[in-house]
Amino acid sequence: MGRKRRTQWQGGLTVAVTLAAAAWLAGGAGFAHQSPDEGTLPPPVHLTAEQDHQRMMDLLHITSLRPGRDANPNSSNAANTDEAKANPYPKLPDPLVLNDGKRVTTGETWWQQRRPEIEKKFDEDVYGRVPKPTPKVNWEVTSTARETVGGVAMITKKLLGHVDNSSYPLTTVDIQATLSTPADATGPVPVMMDFGFDPAVMQRLRAQMEARGQKFPAPPPGPTWQEQVAAKGWGYAVIIPTSYQADNGAGLTEGIIGLCNKGQPRKPDDWGSLRAWAWGASQLLDYFETDPSVDARRVGIEGLSRYGKATLVTMAYDQRFAIALVGSSGAGGAKLFRRNFGETNENLAATGEYHWMAGNFLKYAGPLNASDLPVDSHELIAMAAPRPVFISCGSPLVEGTWVDDKGQFMAEVAAGPVYRLLGKRGLETSEMPPIETALIKGDLAFRQHNGPHTDLPNWPTFLEWASRYMSEPHAHPGN
Ligand code: GCU
Repeated sequence: MGRKRRTQWQGGLTVAVTLAAAAWLAGGAGFAHQSPDEGTLPPPVHLTAEQDHQRMMDLLHITSLRPGRDANPNSSNAANTDEAKANPYPKLPDPLVLNDGKRVTTGETWWQQRRPEIEKKFDEDVYGRVPKPTPKVNWEVTSTARETVGGVAMITKKLLGHVDNSSYPLTTVDIQATLSTPADATGPVPVMMDFGFDPAVMQRLRAQMEARGQKFPAPPPGPTWQEQVAAKGWGYAVIIPTSYQADNGAGLTEGIIGLCNKGQPRKPDDWGSLRAWAWGASQLLDYFETDPSVDARRVGIEGLSRYGKATLVTMAYDQRFAIALVGSSGAGGAKLFRRNFGETNENLAATGEYHWMAGNFLKYAGPLNASDLPVDSHELIAMAAPRPVFISCGSPLVEGTWVDDKGQFMAEVAAGPVYRLLGKRGLETSEMPPIETALIKGDLAFRQHNGPHTDLPNWPTFLEWASRYMSEPHAHPGN
């Protein structure tokens, strides 16, 4: 474990003090368990996102990338919003055809051959590989409080997941999360886990959106999602992704990615932040498996926008998650990479976003293009099969066209054959419904609400649909 001491300040803030600082505080009196000499370890490399991005381009022998599109419609490089030009590469890779050209006709072939083939491609070229093994996480309950949420008495635990940094003590990583479960529960309850925005990031996003002339959503009236979940007798959890992996390229030599690389920059197929954020959710689920207040077989995952992308990646890669609510995930999430509408792959490959992806993804915005990608996002959704996935978006008139609702819907339709192969139901239509018309008959669900960049208006519909899976006595993910 990281050699840290915890100091409780009057304000209740828990502060991690590194061994070096603790030794200094203790007047240099050594500790019984001294670490390997930290002085001999190379310190983390510090690069700006631009420098790290250039380094990755050099590694891949890429001399130039196509520029990302601009969300501002008046820009000379404005994102396409014309549906007639949105499908330059209409032919998608077939999730049910093996690399050798043979058709997948049984669940067994899907599980044993096709799904691993698809996963490998996402690992190599899209989201990157997670190192094996990753360091152990030791969960600490730092406080427990009783609170009333929408009239329901809840017990809220603050959790800190201390990541074992004995392989590289110069980097400390702690996963921040909270877990709230009904105080009067008579047994373990289903839990919805949310990727929560760090308040500092929210402020930055707000400034970015306002600079683009977009409106930052005010908290809508009505019950919060936590109140809605509590009213069902379920629990909820919030994990802060940026507590263990920064949302920028400069942070790639720190956080869990940097710790695993001992402070060195990424290789082209190393994981990006989306997989790192998903890794954290899996660690929290590991903790839930040890907490008697949680029914760990019924844990759902939810997130919006960049965390909508992380939600889908989590659901695709960790088959223990029972259900997902994927909010306005757009490019790098549910939206087809082959679409040319709103945000594009070139945006994802640029300095502001490339850290979400594997370095190899840059190739598809330079020497190669979207049609060269060996996979597309319908296959990421298919990796979640047969477990239920709800894709949520707002109204293009209010939320804007950047997230490409149609491109997300099309991917979900194209994931349907895999659900059907496994005895489940997809959306069961390829016609996009009008706004506020939910498709919730199948195990894939879709709804556009008529509001802005939030998934809150879709929570009531999601919960109604999710009850089918989360309240069943023998519901189990993956069957
Ligand atoms: C930007 C980015 C999107 C992302 C969004 C968000 O708009 O281009 O890909 O989803 O930020 O996370 O709010």
